[in-house]
Amino acid sequence: MAGSESKGDLPDGAGCIPRHVAIIMDGNGRWARQRGQPRHAGHRAGVESVRRVIEACVEHGTEILTLFAFSSENWRRPRSEVDMLMELFMVALGREICKLDKNNIRLRVIGETSAFPQKLQRQIAEAEARTADNDGLLLQIAANYGGRWDITQAARRLAQQVASGELDPADIDEACFARATAFGDVPDPDLFIRTGGEQRISNFLLWHCAYSELYFTPVLWPDFDKETFAEALSEYARRERRFGQASEQLDKANTG
Ligand code: FPP
Repeated sequence: MAGSESKGDLPDGAGCIPRHVAIIMDGNGRWARQRGQPRHAGHRAGVESVRRVIEACVEHGTEILTLFAFSSENWRRPRSEVDMLMELFMVALGREICKLDKNNIRLRVIGETSAFPQKLQRQIAEAEARTADNDGLLLQIAANYGGRWDITQAARRLAQQVASGELDPADIDEACFARATAFGDVPDPDLFIRTGGEQRISNFLLWHCAYSELYFTPVLWPDFDKETFAEALSEYARRERRFGQASEQLDKANTG
């Protein structure tokens, strides 16, 4: 079970199985190019990887899966690709929502979704409402999300509360700030995976991955399957998560 292995007085998820996995799904375009296909073929194949990784999380007992589907910066892509991605989200959502619901999965979309086409916004709201009471895997799709946007909107929210007299500035601490972010009610990611070979965070969960274990793989997202996910979990299980403590303290906590 998630977080069941004791490692002393550490956050849940510090055990062998990460409680929360976050993924930057990169490499769709290159995957398509390698096959002489247009970029959208890579994005379509990427949807199959999304399905596989959801199943793998359920099988391994990971509780939360957060996928970076569309960054605040992805609007800079050619219009045709952005339109295609919006269409793909709508089709995938329409096609998969029954299955997600049947499998007790709760869907949540995080980001500035007000910039999306009205139809997609409606579909997102319906899908979230339909799965709201499910208590299996929490699937979070970060869409039109940026880590800096999230920190900025949290600061604005707190400033408004201070201005209205609801909040004393002296009460703003890390926990209070974290609650004001878009991921404020879930634990931070334990494992942060990026596929496609690049080794950067690209404005994803900047506040929340302070203590996440980072795992970079050259595997392109459409090739990411249950086996490659299991490799990431094995590597995670080998890591020593210290959260600022010394190694000796953890040894003592585990034997004592
Ligand atoms: C990055 O690869 C991928 C994206 C910007 C889109 C990710 C979208 C999907 C996997 C589609 C399905 C998602 C959901 C949640 C239904 P890239 O295009 O940057 O690849 P490249 O670096 O090889 O060009």
